[in-house]
Amino acid sequence: MISQETIDELLDRASILDFSNELAGVKRQGPSLFAICPFHQEKSGSFHVRDGGKFYHCFGCGVSGNIFSFVMKVYGLSFPDAIEFIARKYGVEVKRSSVKRANPEARFKENLKKLNKLARMFYVSQMERNRSLIDEYLEKRAILPEIERVFELGFAPAEWRMLSQFLKEKGAPEDLMLHSGLVKRNSRGELYDALRGRIVFPILSVERIPIGFGGRIMPQFETEETPKYLNSPETSLYQKSRVLYGLPYALSDARYSRRIYVTEGYFDVISLFQVGVKSVVATCGTALTAGHVNVLQRSVSKVSVLFDGDNAGRDAAAKAFPSFLNSGLEADATFLPEGEDPDSLARTHRERTAELLEGLPRESLFDCFVEYQCRKSGADGSKALSPRQKAQVAGEIGKVLSVTKNPIELDEYVKRAAYLLRTEASLLKELLVAQKGDGGQGLPVENPPSSGDISSSRAERPSELSHVHRLLLRAVMVLKMEALSELLQTPDIYGNLPRTLVFFFESFKEVLERSERDFDKQKELVRELLAAFGAEWVAFWKESYTMAQEPEVDAARMFREALLRLREEKVLESIQVLEASLNEPEGENRREQLLQARLDLTRKLRSLREQGAAESSRN
Ligand code: UTP
Ligand code: MN
Repeated sequence: MISQETIDELLDRASILDFSNELAGVKRQGPSLFAICPFHQEKSGSFHVRDGGKFYHCFGCGVSGNIFSFVMKVYGLSFPDAIEFIARKYGVEVKRSSVKRANPEARFKENLKKLNKLARMFYVSQMERNRSLIDEYLEKRAILPEIERVFELGFAPAEWRMLSQFLKEKGAPEDLMLHSGLVKRNSRGELYDALRGRIVFPILSVERIPIGFGGRIMPQFETEETPKYLNSPETSLYQKSRVLYGLPYALSDARYSRRIYVTEGYFDVISLFQVGVKSVVATCGTALTAGHVNVLQRSVSKVSVLFDGDNAGRDAAAKAFPSFLNSGLEADATFLPEGEDPDSLARTHRERTAELLEGLPRESLFDCFVEYQCRKSGADGSKALSPRQKAQVAGEIGKVLSVTKNPIELDEYVKRAAYLLRTEASLLKELLVAQKGDGGQGLPVENPPSSGDISSSRAERPSELSHVHRLLLRAVMVLKMEALSELLQTPDIYGNLPRTLVFFFESFKEVLERSERDFDKQKELVRELLAAFGAEWVAFWKESYTMAQEPEVDAARMFREALLRLREEKVLESIQVLEASLNEPEGENRREQLLQARLDLTRKLRSLREQGAAESSRN
């Protein structure tokens, strides 16, 4: 194994610019350089080298990486050979460590786990030192001492540096502390604790390792500016769209009941658990996504969301519906009376809570979804829809349903939607077919293209796809189900992808599902699939995999970037359509409205771009 020391030294000294023989057409633009990309055919020079030659990114083909991946790719070397090569060039001695070391990313995660465990120990120990303060609060919330211990509740003192000092004494490096989000840096460069004056909830992985923390402010420390709850940011351990608070505690119970409640808050989980409703989790300040559903579908067969009965709660339930499509999970929603949450319910009804919950009406998540679409169209309910609104709502429903794989399930939804909207199921079906055919625009087509047969129309080659579509394809090939399920969640994007891409994704998904636990079979099926798409697809696949193995290439980031750019494209398109209608004579009457819409879209575009900039500056 090459020692980390050598790697670090090379990272420090080597620059891509020193390999300029390989770079044509170098042009300086401010602090950065652009060149002709050595990795794809181009004339325009979209290959961007930054940070003094430490990193590269091609805006054309999406490749990016550091000096190591650059040398590996340009010279066709393995990682160790590339190290040797670079080291020779700079006269650096290659040191080797005899012990086999984990890769840096895995090591970083291990260290973060250690840090989180230390932090949890710190917060729990602070409970004892502030007993009178805590007891008063927990008593008011009716949390019993044994439950406090089960959930390992902790306390973050209302001081600025207790945790950071503690972690420092234990030898935790600053960058790790900062990455965890538990410690922050002020403008003077000093470290301070993020959670202060709060009850702390460790968020555990299924393996019961603390991967993040939530903190609720204690009433005596509440101010106008402090949010009631603070949560860890996303880290290399903590992905908010996949983590459910309370899951490890709920799992043993859910294995029997096969049913799980999804609530919104930490205290909802703890209080329900305490009164015997143990199969319960919370999303902790994020929406319920396909990632969450993906995690749940391994352990349960039925999910009941348990939200507030106000419009916000109903909207949240409705928005979760698409995540459950094709998951095989039954999902329904129970709404609590105005002003109640599961926590307050459990406090009032104690041991009778389980029974009470069973007795509350359950609504189908799909019904909630239809109702939400009606509300969004501006109508009061499905009965008060104008013809235009009805068409709009039907279009939205069609877009989401078009990904349903099981025809019987789809048929049931269509019938139900037709009933709720007081229209004909056959018309809805027609709309669905039309949407599928033209990529989600909702315009009827004469001959819907037969799906499923690529030989009838040649599959486009990856090189014929746009940059952003290629980027997306690469990411999906590497991330597989993880990316696919998220993509299916965003029908507005998915529905607008080129047919070849959609067809590939659909087939790919099927292959992955058919060979879930059998890797050899999966390989074989994928190979078959790619062969059917053509030689260039096979090559593209291999290339994507080689790329993904490089330390600097992050497929998940690539995926997010592609989604962002596709969103941006969509908004830009809408702006163009608006501009066109503004110039039409009929546009005159609706000028005010159109201008407002354009303003909204421009804002949206700006926020997407800011998001994009934030994403790329994070690495
Ligand atoms: P609620 O505002 O409904 O709080 O937020 P709650 O759970 O009833 O809290 P108590 O009973 O006043 O203590 C529901 C959940 O949304 C997230 C938290 O996970 C919270 O439990 N949330 C809320 C945040 O992440 N940040 C906030 O500022 C507020
Ligand atoms: Mn509450």
